[in-house]
Amino acid sequence: MTDPAAHDPADIASRRKDYETAGLDLPDVVADPMAQWHRWYAEASESGCVEPNAFVLGTVDPAGWPHSRYLLVRGADERGFTFFTNYRSAKSDQLTSEPRASMLFTWLQLHRQVRVVGHVERVPEEESDEYFASRPRGSQVGAWSSPQSQPIPDREWLEQRVEQMAATFGDAEVARPAFWGGWLLRPVAYEFWQGRPSRLHDRLRYTLLGADDGSGGVAEGDSWEIERLAP
Ligand SMILES: Cc1cc2nc3c(=O)[nH]c(=O)nc-3n(C[C@H](O)[C@H](O)[C@H](O)COP(=O)(O)O)c2cc1C
Repeated sequence: MTDPAAHDPADIASRRKDYETAGLDLPDVVADPMAQWHRWYAEASESGCVEPNAFVLGTVDPAGWPHSRYLLVRGADERGFTFFTNYRSAKSDQLTSEPRASMLFTWLQLHRQVRVVGHVERVPEEESDEYFASRPRGSQVGAWSSPQSQPIPDREWLEQRVEQMAATFGDAEVARPAFWGGWLLRPVAYEFWQGRPSRLHDRLRYTLLGADDGSGGVAEGDSWEIERLAP
């Protein structure tokens, strides 16, 4: 049975849960933040977190407005994080005009979040080709059919586009559209947050040394400073 209190708006302000989970301290983490992210990602996957690779991408448009939306991360390696989308979408326009972005991973079952900021660039074409080829055919046709972020008349218009595209391709291989591909975010800072009792949460921030010289250039270097932040 559904708990009516769970849907009472007045309940939101009083909702509290003390986080009894294990803490996060310097001896618990590894020096490389990407390796630390992989540890937490593995634990989130094992704990049954829904869509553990989902994250909120934060971008800024030319007028200074911030924008957030969920995406799925498809790669996490020594370069940074990779995700795929339409290159003509609102987010891609924003990433082009302001090539810095934030990523927020949230694993609520574990009372954890990871914040990342970094420089973005398009991934090499071959990498987008390879990922596109691995997608289900329906998603491939969908990528060709949807002018992501543009106003469209109605649902029917979209469904007709999909039908037309599917008919155009027939049984042929669906090649990647040039307007669809991957972005790479090269991190310059991470923050690992672990919920703790009485709101005395643990926060460890990693900063790439020498990364932000104010020139807006791409991050260089591989040495990370780790600091504890007040909750
Ligand atoms: C859980 C989740 C995962 C998503 N993953 C992607 C993704 O990997 N790529 C993508 O283009 N859109 C994805 N979306 C849709 C985006 O949130 C967004 O609606 C779309 O990319 C258009 O955003 P934009 O207009 O800001 O460019 C996802 C949405 C959700 C809720």
